Amino acid sequence: MNIAIDGPAGAGKSTIAKRVSKKLGYVYVDTGAMYRTMALYFLRNKIDGSDEAAVSASLDDVSVEIKYVDGEQKVLLNKEDVTGLIRTEEVGNMASATSKYSAVREKLLELQRDLARKMDVVMDGRDIGTTILPDAEVKIYLTASVDARGQRRYDELKARGVECDLEQIKKDIEDRDYRDMHREVSPLKQAADAYYLDSSDMDIDEVTEAIIQRIKER
Ligand code: DC
Repeated sequence: MNIAIDGPAGAGKSTIAKRVSKKLGYVYVDTGAMYRTMALYFLRNKIDGSDEAAVSASLDDVSVEIKYVDGEQKVLLNKEDVTGLIRTEEVGNMASATSKYSAVREKLLELQRDLARKMDVVMDGRDIGTTILPDAEVKIYLTASVDARGQRRYDELKARGVECDLEQIKKDIEDRDYRDMHREVSPLKQAADAYYLDSSDMDIDEVTEAIIQRIKER
């Protein structure tokens, strides 16, 4: 059984997917973390994210692996655990810029499908229901308004003691939405058979419950 959760940045996919996977005893697979891991490589090696040829040419030197420690997903970049290094805006922006290249997506496609073949997963991302797991038993498209998502990200960063500006965060979210939705390869969009959920005015428990309900109906 596989559950696909897609949606824009900051909609709460990872929080919700973690909750749902725990309740069901499934494995949570965060595909955004894989794109972020590659992005970290590009940043560290000063590869220009807008240069598709340079990005593609570097891919043979990048290995991304996933492991699970106490049920938590860890990402390895060339064998180094970089899980704690990929949650910055800089890495997120680089991931958004480079995830539009087909060579980058190709590289992660099999890794993602392979995980879903081996285990019951709740997988979140942008193209899970449309491209990676078109046969997923349950598909959710989870979104929220730019205001709601911006406020959540702002609160999250503040709580971690990171200085930030709400308007800038909202602008970044809009830009990233645009890039994710308008790229040629596997753009973010709701799969025809996905259940649409707008979490702007819902709390985490309500969203989790709505999804569990949906799964039970299947
Ligand atoms: O979900 P996230 O913010 O960690 O994802 C970072 C970027 O990676 C996002 O802007 C788009 C890209 N991404 C993607 O293209 N496809 C996925 N399945 C997951 C993420």
